[in-house]
Amino acid sequence: MIYENSFLVEGKTFKNAGHVSSQVKNLLQKMKFSKEVVRRAAIVTYEAEINICSYAERGKIILRVKPEEINIEAIDEGQGIADIELAMEEGYSTATPKIVHMGFGAGMGLANIKRFSDVFRITSEVGKGTHLEMIIRA
Ligand SMILES: Nc1ncnc2c1ncn2[C@@H]1O[C@H](COP(=O)(O)OP(=O)(O)OP(=O)(O)O)[C@@H](O)[C@H]1O
Ligand SMILES: [Mg+2]
Repeated sequence: MIYENSFLVEGKTFKNAGHVSSQVKNLLQKMKFSKEVVRRAAIVTYEAEINICSYAERGKIILRVKPEEINIEAIDEGQGIADIELAMEEGYSTATPKIVHMGFGAGMGLANIKRFSDVFRITSEVGKGTHLEMIIRA
């Protein structure tokens, strides 16, 4: 492990939305990962962060960096996801009008996380929270 850090994400508010993913992006740029790898890591972190801001009570994003891979975990406490297969479908969203007003809720976040990750794991428990793990190989 060459670098590890954990970032708190406030739930149910867009006040700081995007701050963690932009910090992660800056860190990875400084570590001299390729543009493509930084872009993919930034996208998956952003989508995971926005989902916490949208749907969870609170969460954290853990960044673990090794020369050969970037591991990003998003762990939240919140309502959880009842049907993960459905939530993964492109276009499926339970976004409220407030979320849509902020420009989110196309139902593309989880599908894009899967697309841009080399490894993607998601587990969730209704009423408890959701856990995402993304690995991007450098
Ligand atoms: N962390 C989470 N906690 C609870 N529910 C979630 C979480 N992340 C996603 N979901 C559920 O899965 C659905 C699909 O999520 P996804 O990120 O793919 O789309 P979206 O957030 O609705 O829209 P977009 O990401 O395109 O702005 C959400 O509408 C929500 O119902
Ligand atoms: Mg989303």
